[in-house]
Amino acid sequence: MNSTRQQGPVVSTQSTQQVPKHEIRPGQSIELLKELHILTQDGKLNQDSRRKLKQVYHLYQFIEPLLQEIQNEHASVQLVDHGAGKSYLGFILYDLFFKTLTDSSHIYGIETREELVIKSQELAKKLAFPGMSFLNLSVADSTGSALLPPRVDVVTALHACNTATDDAIQFGLKKKARFMVLVPCCQAEIASVLKKNKGKSTTKEALTEIWRHPLHTREFGSQVTNVLRCLQLEAHGYQVSVTELVGWEHSMKNELIIATYKNLPRQRPLQRLQELLHTLGLEEMQERFFAPSVGQAEA
Ligand SMILES: C[S@@+](CC[C@H](N)C(=O)[O-])C[C@H]1O[C@@H](n2cnc3c(N)ncnc32)[C@H](O)[C@@H]1O
Repeated sequence: MNSTRQQGPVVSTQSTQQVPKHEIRPGQSIELLKELHILTQDGKLNQDSRRKLKQVYHLYQFIEPLLQEIQNEHASVQLVDHGAGKSYLGFILYDLFFKTLTDSSHIYGIETREELVIKSQELAKKLAFPGMSFLNLSVADSTGSALLPPRVDVVTALHACNTATDDAIQFGLKKKARFMVLVPCCQAEIASVLKKNKGKSTTKEALTEIWRHPLHTREFGSQVTNVLRCLQLEAHGYQVSVTELVGWEHSMKNELIIATYKNLPRQRPLQRLQELLHTLGLEEMQERFFAPSVGQAEA
């Protein structure tokens, strides 16, 4: 994406820099960038903030075509961002895409930290962004909340902690979201089950060497979690792509999962999901990675 390509710094020896024009897009709110501390009050950019802006732009290039696809199908776009934090993603999405829409398109930020929710609410008010709401709810509780619309088109979850990504997937499945854009954080649950079940007779095979050492238990657990998430999504008819979120160099967690509902055949991914849970001794995780039974799967 040309607009995010970094060029030589204007002032290379200082922590703040003049903003190269290509980093600010036409129509973009300078006030928002200052409020998000991406720009300083005198309009300069510091290195950390510049990285954050670059990352969010990078993610935006994946999300923008999905928003356009929704618009081709119906008038308004409903997007829910789970584990929103300071809502960088939501605000940038709103500023770049939603701000000029005249329909009822809306972005909802879901966040358990009340102070962040209040800050985001205040900022949306200050910037006159009426199509943004922030709810002090857990991802799990938001699934049944009447404060959210019955139809949600796009679910995003950017580094939502631990099992919050799994809850975001449940949310997306329940809402029959057309797209889910997930950049998972560390998930400790699978690793803890692998650890607990080490040495059980069902898993006393050479395969268990893969997660025998504690460091490997954690890494393999994390890898398997994302594999199970993908299979679960496929077992619900989604097409899944997994790529690396390049430019995300500040974080080790840079796996980007994009799921698109296509009503694809579910039987094979469902069988694979169940087989994998069984092979790894993870049967107790069936509820977490629930999927329709084979009989219902093609219904
Ligand atoms: C690592 S931060 C990421 C914030 C933001 N998405 C970003 O990438 O800048 C994770 C956020 O998720 C929130 N969170 C964690 N578990 C949650 C849950 N179950 N429901 C809602 N929010 C949650 C945390 O409070 C935190 O603000």
